[in-house]
Amino acid sequence: MRVWIKNGHLLDPADHRDEICDLYIEDGKVAFIGSLLSDSRGKEDCQVIDAEGKYVMPGFLDLHVHLREPGFEYKETIRTGTAAAAKGGFTAVCPMPNTSPATDSPEMIRKIREIAERDSRIHVYPVGAVTKGQQGKEMTDIAGMAAAGAKAISEDGKSVMDAGLYREAMREAAKAGIPVLAHCEDKNMVGSGAMNAGKKAEELGMPGITNGVEDVIVARDILLAKETGARLHLCHCSTADSVRMVEQAKKDGLHVSGEVCPHHFSLTEDDIPGDDANYKMNPPLRTSTDVEKLREGLSKGIMEAISTDHAPHGEEEKKASIAKAPFGIVGSETAYALAVTNLVKKGYLTPMQLVERMSTAPCRILGVPGGSLAVGMPADITIADMDSEYEIDRDTFVSKGKNTPFHGMRVTGRVFYTLVGGEIVYQYEGGNAI
Ligand code: DOR
Ligand code: ZN
Ligand code: ZN
Repeated sequence: MRVWIKNGHLLDPADHRDEICDLYIEDGKVAFIGSLLSDSRGKEDCQVIDAEGKYVMPGFLDLHVHLREPGFEYKETIRTGTAAAAKGGFTAVCPMPNTSPATDSPEMIRKIREIAERDSRIHVYPVGAVTKGQQGKEMTDIAGMAAAGAKAISEDGKSVMDAGLYREAMREAAKAGIPVLAHCEDKNMVGSGAMNAGKKAEELGMPGITNGVEDVIVARDILLAKETGARLHLCHCSTADSVRMVEQAKKDGLHVSGEVCPHHFSLTEDDIPGDDANYKMNPPLRTSTDVEKLREGLSKGIMEAISTDHAPHGEEEKKASIAKAPFGIVGSETAYALAVTNLVKKGYLTPMQLVERMSTAPCRILGVPGGSLAVGMPADITIADMDSEYEIDRDTFVSKGKNTPFHGMRVTGRVFYTLVGGEIVYQYEGGNAI
């Protein structure tokens, strides 16, 4: 199997390449970079992709998705969720363990991998739970899950409130050589909070979630990482103080990284039009002060990764009031365009930095191959532009979840091809929307 990607603009932060060139793929790997016309190797019998006017980038890795299988197949499946991710330019995803039953044992990790093997055309790196049944009481078999293929542990959906237990889990993760992906939310502080505590919550008469709900657990988890030597990755950071604490942790030489989701760098609480649960997610949309700090954090590389927290829910569930509906919005199919529109076009990221935040850094954080298209690397590739303008249309989503606050929003940047191991797993078919 040979593929010739012609005349694209290669962006590779790891290999320091920022140039128009051809990419030649053989046996699923990058075999040659340069001008193929002046190269002698056989161009016959190969698939040609015209990438003129488009960026050719190492495939994106989404460190944070909810694929809902097993247990909630009416919301999403591994098949539909990975198809949505491929459409969004992602060549790999990390599904969180809040499935039913929870992904909390070596058997469950193997089960997810088996389903993915059958149903997914992109890489699936499963994340194991920290406690059995995510009940916060008894630690899972972390070494066993790592041996079965878990690439990280996380209690996503909630925090482990018992710091002693979490400390033990961090030690185990460090021993197993995998990172801890932390959902930071103090259960005792959040109460029935449904959206950011502030003007908008007051206006709508909704219970609020303060920044402190996130910040106290961020502080605690950084201290636990310091004590245990664990690699700590903070999920969906939403507050100015989270950015400040990650910056300090890095200065202190700790293995701490953070991710920001597109909704948190694109919207503020002021954008919530009324009691519409498509604007409900956890952590919630914050203030413009927080959003500015998150954008700055991404710009400076304090926040290393962009991830989606893709959280599909049923149509009926999201028709409920913000007070009652489940937390979460879909993100796989809109992440790239939102990053281009709100970060690149507004001067917070260069195109190269976008690749670093969506591909190179996530691969580094997880410790998996990818994030570069140097010769010999797997041909996991995202081909996209930063000029196409269109409206997001949730009716075109391939995810089962249509729960997005971005329906009808004008954005810039479109994914044209996603390749995994040199094979096209998504190709844009035309049309004027996502
Ligand atoms: O918005 C969210 N949705 N936040 C979470 O922590 C969980 C997730 C979900 O599973 O729906
Ligand atoms: Zn979470
Ligand atoms: Zn999540």
